[in-house]
Amino acid sequence: MTAVTQPTRQILVTSALPYANGPIHLGHMLEYIQTDIWVRFQKLRGHECHYVCADDAHGTPIMLKAQQLGITPEEMIDKVNAEHQQDFADFGVKFDNFHSTHSDENRHFAELIYNRLNDNGFISTKVIEQLFDPEKQMFLPDRFVKGDCPSCGSEDQNGDNCDSCGATYSPTELKNPRSVVSGATPVLKESEHYFFELPKFEGMLKEWTRSGSLQSEMANKLAEWFEDGLQNWDISRDAPYFGFNIPGTTDKFFYVWLDAPIGYIGSFKNLCDKNPDIDFDAFWSKDSTAELYHFIGKDIIYFHSLFWPAMLEGADIRKPTSVYAHGFVTVNGAKMSKSKGTFIKARTYLEHLNPEYLRYYYGAKLTSKIDDLDLNLEDFAQRVNSDLVGKVINIASRCAGFITKKFDGTLAPTVSEAALIEEFIAAQNDIAELYEARDFSKAVRQIMALADKANQYIADKEPWQLVKDPAKADEVQQVCSVGLNLFKILTTYLKPITPSLAEQVEAFLNVELTWDSINHPLTNHKINKFKAMMQRVDMKHIDAMVDASKDSLQPAEVAAPVLDPNSPLAQDPIADEISFDDFAKIDLRVARISKADHVKGADKLLRLELDLGGETRQVFAGIKSAYQPEQLEGKMTVMVANLAPRKMRFGMSEGMVLAAGPGGEDLWILNPEDGAQPGMRVK
Ligand code: MSP
Ligand code: ZN
Repeated sequence: MTAVTQPTRQILVTSALPYANGPIHLGHMLEYIQTDIWVRFQKLRGHECHYVCADDAHGTPIMLKAQQLGITPEEMIDKVNAEHQQDFADFGVKFDNFHSTHSDENRHFAELIYNRLNDNGFISTKVIEQLFDPEKQMFLPDRFVKGDCPSCGSEDQNGDNCDSCGATYSPTELKNPRSVVSGATPVLKESEHYFFELPKFEGMLKEWTRSGSLQSEMANKLAEWFEDGLQNWDISRDAPYFGFNIPGTTDKFFYVWLDAPIGYIGSFKNLCDKNPDIDFDAFWSKDSTAELYHFIGKDIIYFHSLFWPAMLEGADIRKPTSVYAHGFVTVNGAKMSKSKGTFIKARTYLEHLNPEYLRYYYGAKLTSKIDDLDLNLEDFAQRVNSDLVGKVINIASRCAGFITKKFDGTLAPTVSEAALIEEFIAAQNDIAELYEARDFSKAVRQIMALADKANQYIADKEPWQLVKDPAKADEVQQVCSVGLNLFKILTTYLKPITPSLAEQVEAFLNVELTWDSINHPLTNHKINKFKAMMQRVDMKHIDAMVDASKDSLQPAEVAAPVLDPNSPLAQDPIADEISFDDFAKIDLRVARISKADHVKGADKLLRLELDLGGETRQVFAGIKSAYQPEQLEGKMTVMVANLAPRKMRFGMSEGMVLAAGPGGEDLWILNPEDGAQPGMRVK
């Protein structure tokens, strides 16, 4: 036997903290599943491993989204936190703690780290000029300013780069800038900001990069950034802001990315407070020998590999052992898209499919590299069906019945086929190394190669033929016992990836699947009746999931024409329940579109004149992608007649037209049937 026992390691693992303003989707799930597999593997090997996470609850988008929903940010983040936790639990992602960055622990550590950085001379201040929304009385983050590209003149471009010509610029350079929040024209305003002096850490960061535990792609990225030169980092934001006050100020707040990674410490502290056996200092003191790993997506490498280690160093706290980045999920070869139904929320998936399928598919495709990963839905079905159902579970379903019916559920007193079983046992070190190195796809390939061997063995022995000959009863018991022992080893190897399958196998084999149990075949052991463990993936369910992911109504696009559908505010508003009384307040009226024109300077809006049977209203509607003005003139539609008028860059909008569809060309204004008269109330 070649099993190597390692000394027990102390390991703290984190996944990036999801923003508290939107639902978890299958892109996020890649990260949480990857981390969970790695953590479950470490625990299976007997190490002390803690897995913590939290919601990232601060920042402007969260503040504005709560305002838009008419609730406090606290109410919103609590609700989202509960939803996130439920989604993760249902996917088998087992955090030891899931907290929030809007917590006492996090405030404590954010202040502590800031104060130490300040005391150690790493904080400076400077007055800067920024765009300010005079109507909303707030400074505007880049993403909240739009206008015409200073380079090519394209309209309706983001505050920091142009979709049309690719130019990057500062929002102050935009022509005809407007606030995404109110539509007002922003003005320049000065304010004092606090900066973290990152360049002072260049030497330390270079050394940390060379420490050898970073992925090579990440080390290369860092080398590029060093070449470009490190800059001071603006860590303050002015009120109004949802976050923590900077100590010693009343109107300055920590930028969300300052306290977000500190949330890792805050969540771990919260765990330690609940479990006095876990030693906080053993993990975070400057001389800690515990291992610390952050799993993140490739989009947030800068924050985790430059700012974060520098902040920790500057505050006399230990640095991460490594930061592991993964690529992005695409679906059917393209970016996840709401109109194609491939922007799939975790919850929508769960309503249609077994979470273990996705865990297996991601596990079977994940590597230690930063490459993107394609979730091809046909390949997904095929892979799960042929591997999990067709290869692995098939072994048990071919052997179990004979043991139950002919041998009273008892495995043979000794196992034959020592060489075959030994081969399965001997694979443990290779498989463990692959898990450790996050090369899950290679581990799965090895496990499936073994599964092929197990199936081949059973096919060669044909227990269903042997059973016909009463003289060969012992042989039937032998063959089926070997098969079930191979099955046990395979499902133990897969346990980090498919924990719920492993649980069913434990109930069936009447044994706990531990890493050590791999070395001990079951003999003369009573098992339970085999029950079907997993249905095959049915394309029908996948299609239903995709259909359910096609947004039928995107209120954000039509409800607030000034809000660009791609703006961070327009993402998946949480459909809060409203009372009948709330609903009854909406005055829906039939209107005749008496005139429709293009709006100079707008790519999405049309100006409509609506005849309400005597009264005429002007409404700007974001339906240009679906209609030419001449198609609309004379049509009847339904409008919200009592919406407060809204000043937009192009004029006053005095109501809202209702439309349905996923957006783009597929958007239909609601058309009342013949007989509707302008001004009629809609019930
Ligand atoms: N709140 C920050 C992280 C702060 S960590 C101190 C954030 N949140 S996020 O909700 O946008 O993303 C959470 C994690 O999910 C990130 O690591 C991000 O890279 C990952 N993913 C989000 N969309 C993804 C895909 N489509 N594919 C793979 N991972 C993706 O960033
Ligand atoms: Zn441009």
